[in-house]
Amino acid sequence: MVSWSTLLVAGLATAGARGNPVELSRRANPTVYLAGDSTMARTSSPHMGWGEYLAKYITIPVVNKAISGRSARSYTNEGRFAEIEKLVKADDIVVIEFGHNDGGSPNSASDNGRSDCPGTGGEVCKSGKTGETVYTFNHYVETASRSFIAKGAKVIVSSQTPNNLWETGTFNPSAPRFVGYAALAARNVGAPGASFVDHFQAVAAMMRKLGSAKTNALFPQDHTHTNPAGADLVAQAFVQAVNMNMNGTTPLKGYLKSPVPVVF
Ligand SMILES: *[C@@H]1O[C@H](CO)[C@@H](O)[C@H](O)[C@H]1NC(C)=O
Repeated sequence: MVSWSTLLVAGLATAGARGNPVELSRRANPTVYLAGDSTMARTSSPHMGWGEYLAKYITIPVVNKAISGRSARSYTNEGRFAEIEKLVKADDIVVIEFGHNDGGSPNSASDNGRSDCPGTGGEVCKSGKTGETVYTFNHYVETASRSFIAKGAKVIVSSQTPNNLWETGTFNPSAPRFVGYAALAARNVGAPGASFVDHFQAVAAMMRKLGSAKTNALFPQDHTHTNPAGADLVAQAFVQAVNMNMNGTTPLKGYLKSPVPVVF
């Protein structure tokens, strides 16, 4: 079998002959880094995060840096975006997906260290507990995105997964505010460095199609965390959205394994 790198070199020779310096610098085998919370992270039974299943559906390696309990704020303050910034090389792809732990207000004396300052711009708050300056979800996500793009990487801002949308017995797909905030972050940072996947919308469409009983069976303990089968399906919904260019083209599109799953 002719390897992808051989094909790439042949392709580059042709591209070079046509004078296309952009293609010349493209790496054959970039890495995908995942930044997120428990719904993406490697967690323990009976739960699992969807990031553990992404590699099944794409042709390039995945490094899952998602950690349970984190928000865009705490992921920033713990230096976890900075750690990824040190690792990324040109053409790597970073998927950023937060929202489950970002709600609430940092103003109270019981500030949990995770709530972002309300708003979508340059608003600042002061933690009622530590006095620390707290920024908005958009500030944290956009700052991290720009730091990766400055190193030549690409960013996919992904909206948070839905909770069980059948939990009341009636399908309710209303999206939390962080879904729109994530779309705005990608727009503010701008193409071609940043793109957006509405993972919430993709998983919501999948849950609608699965129906109540099959969706409930994916949530063993609470309405947020799925079992491994659910995590695999949540990964498939992400990949399907990428394949469909659901909210615009992303750099992962070129690295999907065939056949691409269809879950919604
Ligand atoms: C993403 O695209 C889907 C399909 O067109 C659309 O329903 C959804 O509203 C979009 N998401 C956002 C946040 O714009």
